[in-house]
Formats: sequence, structure tokens, C-alpha cells
Amino acid sequence: MVFGVPSPKSPGLATGFLLGLAALLIAGCSPTDPANILVPTGPVDRMEADLFNLIYYIAIAVFIVVEGILIYTVIRYRSRQPGEIPAQTHGNTLLEVTWTIIPCIILAVIAVPTLTTIVSATTTTPPAGTNALNVKVVGHQFWWEFDYPDLGIVTADELHIPTGTRVDLDVGSADVIHSFWVPKLGGHVQAIPNQKNGSWILADTAGTYKAECFQLCGASHANMRMIVVSESQADFDKWVANMKATAANPTAADAQKGAQIFATGACTGCHTIDGTKAAGKVGPNLTHIGSHTTLAGAVLENTPQNMAMWIHNPPAVKPGSIMPNLNLPDDQVTALVAYLESLK
Ligand code: CUA
Repeated sequence: MVFGVPSPKSPGLATGFLLGLAALLIAGCSPTDPANILVPTGPVDRMEADLFNLIYYIAIAVFIVVEGILIYTVIRYRSRQPGEIPAQTHGNTLLEVTWTIIPCIILAVIAVPTLTTIVSATTTTPPAGTNALNVKVVGHQFWWEFDYPDLGIVTADELHIPTGTRVDLDVGSADVIHSFWVPKLGGHVQAIPNQKNGSWILADTAGTYKAECFQLCGASHANMRMIVVSESQADFDKWVANMKATAANPTAADAQKGAQIFATGACTGCHTIDGTKAAGKVGPNLTHIGSHTTLAGAVLENTPQNMAMWIHNPPAVKPGSIMPNLNLPDDQVTALVAYLESLK
């Protein structure tokens, strides 16, 4: 018995183990899984799922044919007499040519839809007569920046898009290589410094789609998530109008104190809040951080408690975070949280 794998002497246990393993594996394929790529919700993911299915069914056919021949051969040519040595053959030109040519044909067949899918998924020129929303995506350790150049909006970690509208993405990176991936809307797009990779997504239905970085990019790679919010054109327009407005000045006393701490402390070196002197570009734009549903690369729900935990000690929440632990006293953290949460 090795690492808990039952010995062949206990077939009941072995069957149970295999059934349990199969149940675990199958449980990973729930159609309601928010990241299930086989239940696409947009044309790009649909193209990719179709390609995957084509290759999958070809692989099943190859498996059945090869295993069928193998099993037939093992039974048909088994040793019938103890000690009998079957006729020995070496080399068969027809067989060798056949099993060289067939894989070549299969690969050539797969190459055609693979290449056309790659071209279709990465062409960022929308078909004539259709509108596209342009978004510049920049990967940072460990968060995503979304810049809508035509709308004058810059935000982080929460990409809002109108349902049914094509969104052309221009994906790059500010530091190391990341990979932009919204499993239900489209495949990975490498985010590479000093390079722009084009891609597009379109969500058929309204909803919030989970997304993540797919390229190992440092200690908090697994904490580099994001959400894509697909909403009606009216809701999207409302969101845009709110994002374009400068956040209102805080009125509550603790929020005003927080605004002062923010403006005079280290925060402004890295963060921008439109309408204030804070214009740092290292970290996320916080102009409307209070309206976000998540924090810190979409790993925390946006609650005052979580924001306080984050500001207290960012590297404790996200190892490798560029935002340092500023050792702020509790009252300053509380005031900053009141201010930032007021930035709707
Ligand atoms: Cu960025 Cu992994």
C-alpha cells in the first residue's frame, strides 16, 4: 500500500477508492460552476469550447480504435501453449506508413479550426456595422487595471461591460507577465510588458463572471482575481455616469479626517482619487472605491472590516503586495476606511 492506495488484495476497498476519486473528479464539472469553460456565455468562449469538443471527440475515437486493436491483438495472438514463442516479426512498411500518415491527417484537420479560432478570438477589429467598447487592460502585481479610453474612466479589478456588446481588449502589463482570463467569456490572453495583445469578449447574459490571472506572476498570483460585471446598457450608462463624476467630498467627521490623512500621508504617492491632489499611478485608482463590491484584487468582499484589515497590513492579506504595512494606528485606519467607503 502506497500513500493510502489500497492493495489489490482488497478489491472492495479499491473499487470504493476509485469510485470516490471519480466522484471527486466529476464534481469538478458542475454546469453551474461560475468558471466552467464548457458552459460558455459568449461567442469567444463558444468558439473555444467547440474547438475543445472537436479535439475531445477525435481523441475519444483514436482511443477507442487504438485500445480496440490492442485488446484484439492481445487476445487473438496470446500464447496458447505454455512456453510457446509466437512468430517474431520486425517492421511492416504498410503499418508504419499508416500510423505515420493517420496522425498527420488528424493534426492537419485540427490545425484548420485551431488557427481560425485563434485569429477570430484575437482580431480586435469589430465586423463592419458593429460597435465595440474599447478597454485597455493592464496587469499589475497583483491587481488588474481597466482603462476605458473612449469614456475617460480608469478603474481596477471590476470590469463593467454592457450585455451583448462586443468589448475589444488591449492587454498589457506594467511589471511581469500575467494572463487575463475570464473562463466563461474567453480564453487566456497573455499580459506582457511592452507588448499589446488583442482579444475580445462578449457576454450573452447579464451577470457577474469570476476571472483570474492565469500566469504564475509572483507570491500572490492566486490572489490576482477580478470580476466582470455584465449589465444592461442602461445600468452600464448609469455606472459610467457615476464613474465620470468626481466623488463627493466627505461630510461625516471621521471621513473628513480620513481624507486629510490620505491627502497628507503616503497614500497619494501610489493612488489617484479624481478631484483631489492624489494622482499616483502605482496602485489602483480609488476614486469610487466605495462602490466596488470587492477589494485587493477581488480577494476580499468590500466591507469596512475587510478594508481595515487590508490597510492595517496588506502583505499579511496578500503576500508580496507592493502596498506596504505603514504601521498606521487604529484611529487613522478607522478614519481612512470611513473616507474610502464614502467614495461611492
Ligand atoms: Cu498575475 Cu498571476
